[in-house]
Amino acid sequence: MRNSSRSAVDPFIVMDVMEAARRSEEAGRRIIHMEVGQPGTGAPKGAAEALAKSLETDALGYTVALGLPALRQRIARLYGEWYGVDLNPERVVITPGSSGGFLLAFTALFDSGDRVGIGAPGYPSYRQILRALGLVPVDLPTAPENRLQPVPADFAGLDLAGLMVASPANPTGTMLDHAAMGALIEAAQAQGASFISDEIYHGIEYEAKAVTALELTDECYVINSFSKYFSMTGWRVGWMVVPEDQVRVVERIAQNMFICAPHASQVAALAALDCDAELQANLDVYKANRKLMLERLPKAGFTRIAPPDGAFYVYADVSDLTDDSRAFAAEILEQAGVAVTPGLDFDPVRGAGTLRFSYARATADIEEGLDRLEAFMKARG
Ligand SMILES: Cc1ncc(COP(=O)(O)O)c(C=O)c1O
Repeated sequence: MRNSSRSAVDPFIVMDVMEAARRSEEAGRRIIHMEVGQPGTGAPKGAAEALAKSLETDALGYTVALGLPALRQRIARLYGEWYGVDLNPERVVITPGSSGGFLLAFTALFDSGDRVGIGAPGYPSYRQILRALGLVPVDLPTAPENRLQPVPADFAGLDLAGLMVASPANPTGTMLDHAAMGALIEAAQAQGASFISDEIYHGIEYEAKAVTALELTDECYVINSFSKYFSMTGWRVGWMVVPEDQVRVVERIAQNMFICAPHASQVAALAALDCDAELQANLDVYKANRKLMLERLPKAGFTRIAPPDGAFYVYADVSDLTDDSRAFAAEILEQAGVAVTPGLDFDPVRGAGTLRFSYARATADIEEGLDRLEAFMKARG
């Protein structure tokens, strides 16, 4: 059968690394996972308990398309708690993960052929989802002096219909402060481009609190998720905050695309919002891991790294060591038994000279991974 040209999206290279790691494990080898972008922990206990209780009494059928009203209200309250922002719960849309939010946002905001700016390096699925929807992703190569975040000069005159940013970002963990975020919003709006802010790593911050675009403007889409801080990747539940006059547009699309986000996950998510003690304990593990990574990666020979402000990744420039990050990652897996992600996933051009290390797992694993990386680099000479 014939395929659409829209369907010709690239694979997620990290999945190939994960498959190679799985094969090694099947053959009896212990692999340290520094490739996966998800917490090693499960959903908070209170979330699982709330779901178990509701399973006894509730049929858990469809919810309304915008999501459980109690969850929308609780998320609105979170904006008061985290940022001091007073948010109307009517603007909150519950989505099947932030991935579902991207589909809704891109469909609601853009017409076929529209050009949407994304920072490079950046989360690979932005590019692929845009392509699959018949939109044109425009890579904005970011500069090290801007900590690999876009600045207005990167998209001046590019005639964009949209600009997508992430703070903290994947793969770098760098953040946009008030001034940087404000400058991007202003420049995007001056160009008539819709501003979309991916805030999925909020809550996982080390030095300063992350800034939400909603502190600066109501004229934006904010996308977030229960996958990272709330440690619920497989539950497929996230949310979006949209301007009041966009709610009905998004609701109509959500009704038709998804009907609703998984009801069981919405019940669990509502309880997860009150599990801060457990989630802060997870954060303490990331903090300890980050410290180890920043101390020991340079000692191992990965010297060109920038301290991440948030998320659980270190992005390393390894262009002095290789011009083929894919082959280098395969070599590290083969020789050291450590799975890492080639930068090509995040930046199709400069990613040939970069790697992403994830430190989302238990501290003992991170220590062992660093031991192995150190020994590997020493042997490589
Ligand atoms: C920056 C970023 N946005 C979105 C996602 C997708 O997350 P979700 O599980 O909410 O669909 C990820 C996943 O790693 C990510 O890193």
